[in-house]
Amino acid sequence: MGKKVTVVGAGFYGATTALRLAEYDVFETVVLTDIIDGKSEGLALDMNQSRSIEGFETRIVGKTTGVDGSGYEVIEGSDIVVITAGLPRKPGMSRMDLLEVNAKIVRGVAENVAKFAPNAVIITVSNPLDEMTALTQIASQFPKNRVMGQAGMLDTARFTNFVAEELDVPVSSVKTLTLGSHGDTMVPVPSQCTVNGKPLADVMDADKIEELVVRTRNGGAEVVALLKTGSAYYAPSAAAARMAKAVAQDSGEAMPVCAWVDGEYGVSGVYLGVVAEIGAEGVKKIVETPLTDTELAGLTEAAEAVRAKQADVAQM
Ligand code: LAC
Repeated sequence: MGKKVTVVGAGFYGATTALRLAEYDVFETVVLTDIIDGKSEGLALDMNQSRSIEGFETRIVGKTTGVDGSGYEVIEGSDIVVITAGLPRKPGMSRMDLLEVNAKIVRGVAENVAKFAPNAVIITVSNPLDEMTALTQIASQFPKNRVMGQAGMLDTARFTNFVAEELDVPVSSVKTLTLGSHGDTMVPVPSQCTVNGKPLADVMDADKIEELVVRTRNGGAEVVALLKTGSAYYAPSAAAARMAKAVAQDSGEAMPVCAWVDGEYGVSGVYLGVVAEIGAEGVKKIVETPLTDTELAGLTEAAEAVRAKQADVAQM
């Protein structure tokens, strides 16, 4: 049977993710839901009308849902659910400022996903990312490998773009990595970055690397400040859609994602940005990358920061 993926939340992030997933043309159905009456139905109708032009057969189904769970039957049988529900940042806000308001929304969604699509792999993208991913697992009670968050793919893509622009080289020649949290304790990992296979430190001076590291850490806020309403969605949706595709195709591709760590890097019992192999069961395996002492210290600090907040969300 064909694969089915659901995107919860038809804001810019959700809608763009749904369209990217449909345009891959590997799913039978992409479901898009939202609590705003008619929004997802309207967007789905519009997207379906692009099928003959863009040449994809995937059907997009839009459905208005209620917080009471009404409408959620549309997600039954989903192999993957991407949760984008929640509010985005406004200029000047940190992702953490969204904690309480989005915790309520994400908990409700996760409970309904557990009820109507009990076998799905969930990819959470709502902010603050690491905490909302942890909350999704708590509220859904899904095995931890079947709940992950999107952030590392995005942060890494931003870092790659900055390096490629700075050196005026193709993005395809640049490999970067970010770990840690999708927030202030993000850990860009210059020691693992290469340009045409050469270490980044050989082709860029240390001050410039640090400048791009800082810009990457603030990558989301830079876009929010320019947009003034809402946050980034083109790069974020590309990242989330690739993760969903890796699950659908059971590709085993190694990607930076927010995953449950259980002893890797000496860290346990927390959702954290790490590299993981992604497949049909969600996270197949966490891949430990070599880190410098400073990078490892950063990762440990990120883990402790997220751990403290994750304890809070469990009560929300
Ligand atoms: C960003 C938001 C989506 O980083 O967290 O753009």
